[in-house]
Amino acid sequence: MQYRLHKNLEVSEIGVGCYALSGAYGSPDIDHFQDMVRRAYEIGVTFFDTAEGYGDAERILGNVVKPFRDEICIATKVGIREGVKPNLSKNYIYEACTRSLKQLDTDYIDLYQIHFDDPQTPVSETLEALDTLVSEGKIRAYGVGHLPIHQVKEYCELGSPFSILMELSAVTRKSREELLPFCDAYDVAGIGFSATGRGILSGKYGHDAQFESNDIRNHDPLFQRTRFESALRITDQFAKLAEDYGVIPVQIAIAWVLAQPNIVCALTGSSKIEHLEENVGASGLTIKRKDLEKLEDLFIKEDGLLAEKDRQIIHSILSNPLSSDPNQAFNDLIYVIETGTNMDMLSEDSAFSVLTDLWPLKKKLDGSNLSKLADIQERLKTLIQVTGPISKKE
Ligand SMILES: NC(=O)c1ccc[n+]([C@@H]2O[C@H](COP(=O)([O-])OP(=O)(O)OC[C@H]3O[C@@H](n4cnc5c(N)ncnc54)[C@H](OP(=O)(O)O)[C@@H]3O)[C@@H](O)[C@H]2O)c1
Repeated sequence: MQYRLHKNLEVSEIGVGCYALSGAYGSPDIDHFQDMVRRAYEIGVTFFDTAEGYGDAERILGNVVKPFRDEICIATKVGIREGVKPNLSKNYIYEACTRSLKQLDTDYIDLYQIHFDDPQTPVSETLEALDTLVSEGKIRAYGVGHLPIHQVKEYCELGSPFSILMELSAVTRKSREELLPFCDAYDVAGIGFSATGRGILSGKYGHDAQFESNDIRNHDPLFQRTRFESALRITDQFAKLAEDYGVIPVQIAIAWVLAQPNIVCALTGSSKIEHLEENVGASGLTIKRKDLEKLEDLFIKEDGLLAEKDRQIIHSILSNPLSSDPNQAFNDLIYVIETGTNMDMLSEDSAFSVLTDLWPLKKKLDGSNLSKLADIQERLKTLIQVTGPISKKE
């Protein structure tokens, strides 16, 4: 394993996240997950990421890493939890940090990350709380993630975050243009999460991929429509390159993340030991400049193809009645919000506000929610301007 140093923290360039423990990728096998964390430590992983919002993950992680706690970095996140409105107020942060320390069974958190936007609390108040926690030795550093770009900028200008957490893989590249420049400008480390593209870039999830009913990939736009088609084409190219290098596709995918400027860690979310070992095998792998350039040509081609098709899809979803299948209707609205934001057709603030109302409906996707889904469709129609003469149904 190779390690990267930024300011006062050195981390393994491949990190392991605990999102799976929240049930996001189906029902977790907790015993196996614990074995996976022990194995990760044995093969050199020193960066483990969790969150107060990942169910029981802090407690499970804290318990497994206890024998080697001081040899690793624990990163956790604050601001969003099941059933609680996003909150970044001073008092909430103090309470949440005390709770996280207890759950993790540790005296300090290496990296405490802002997880989600709370529009009610000024950034200066949140920063005051974080600075106090640093001065008390409860956290070693703080970082930001999942925030609108103007907020990330405000944190960088008013405070001194260690890191920006961003979704970054060959199939989700927007943060390269939007967030990596802040890393450079403000001397902040980049941590790229979902480095395997939620598994897509392993090449193990094709058109016939089936997920458990509670797996978020059933709703993730990356696994829907043209975005999935594009991601699979990119995965094919990664597989070809992997053959040339004598490695497996997911290793090229992780090496690609690590090749981006200012990235200190590619955060992966395997729950299986076998996947962990494959992912860790990417450490130290360097993709040649000429191959990186060829990949950029591929991305330009894919972006061009996607832009027009997605514009048509967004128009079609917004101008036709929603599907009578609530699952499909929900997925279509998520697709519009995420893709519309990626294409700068919807502002980030609007997307956050609509998502905050839409996401809780996922818990009960039956006929009783169809009118709420239709209201959200109406709201999106007022927020998204689809220009051009697109009228045909997709
Ligand atoms: N995803 C988010 O929205 C998010 C947001 C903020 C922070 N984070 C942090 O970043 C971490 C990494 O993100 P992520 O969990 O989305 O990472 P990811 O590795 O891109 O996605 C995890 C999924 O990919 C599969 N996978 C990983 N490696 C694989 C391999 N070699 N072969 C086949 N499948 C593989 C895993 O399957 P198995 O479980 O079967 O191994 C799991 O279902 C999270 O755990 C969390 O700590 C995530």
